[in-house]
Amino acid sequence: MILFKKTNDLIKHLDNQRILGKKIGFVPTMGALHEGHLSLVRLSKAATDLTICSIFVNPTQFNDPADFEKYPITTDKDIALLLTAGCDLLFLPAVSEMYPEGIMGKPEYDLGDMETLLEGKFRPGHFQGVCQVVHQLLAQVNPHDLFLGQKDYQQCMVIDRLMQQTGFKETVKLHICPTLRETDGLAMSSRNRRLNDSDRKKAASIFRTLSYLKQQLHTGSLDALLQTASDQLEQEGFRTDYLVVADAASLQPVSTWDGSQKLVALVATFLGGVRLIDNLPLN
Ligand code: PAF
Repeated sequence: MILFKKTNDLIKHLDNQRILGKKIGFVPTMGALHEGHLSLVRLSKAATDLTICSIFVNPTQFNDPADFEKYPITTDKDIALLLTAGCDLLFLPAVSEMYPEGIMGKPEYDLGDMETLLEGKFRPGHFQGVCQVVHQLLAQVNPHDLFLGQKDYQQCMVIDRLMQQTGFKETVKLHICPTLRETDGLAMSSRNRRLNDSDRKKAASIFRTLSYLKQQLHTGSLDALLQTASDQLEQEGFRTDYLVVADAASLQPVSTWDGSQKLVALVATFLGGVRLIDNLPLN
């Protein structure tokens, strides 16, 4: 695996690979890698000739500075994992490389109601920061294929929208890849390692709650079902930002189901100060 820290070196190398006819697959990450990330690397390897992973803990997408400070940095372990997964290139830029002019003057992206719904509502400015860094990474890497995990359902929608607005949709194929789960159902996430042992056990209730919504889904009003599900989480000590059933394409909350609309259940909830998100397509 070749490691790049400087954008210009990376661009030169990738330009040469493109001239050689190589198809480039890209897996952007913030490090603290787990099997979920490695599954994206493996999917990229199967679909392309050259897989590049980036590790960059992007300061502009953290609406809570304390969350940024606590974000786990495990670079040596990440490199070892990428080697085992057969990743070809790693881009590991410093903040000064990505934002030479500092992080204050942000570009503005038109994200419509993605900025006021769900994650947009509870993490103001988060998706603007995600778009800022992904836009820049796409320009630097200029991949043929981009691999994202469905665990960040709304982020996938936002990046799809960014790609439409910036023209990358015409040149980059977006793959939204299945969420990987631990044996008890907890979605794999870099944040899981911040849970203490007892909260880690409790955290399996998030997937149980989503599965309950899926099993009990019925036509008509969903209010009582959602109330039971969120009461369950509350009784177990979760502090929930949102637990909703939403239209799978627009993310608008659905309180009455007609039996045909495609739905997804989405949740963001705190356990011992750690904010966890998850989702499950329902039909
Ligand atoms: O999902 C993530 O890890 C990040 O939001 C991303 C897409 C790498 C942008 O920083």
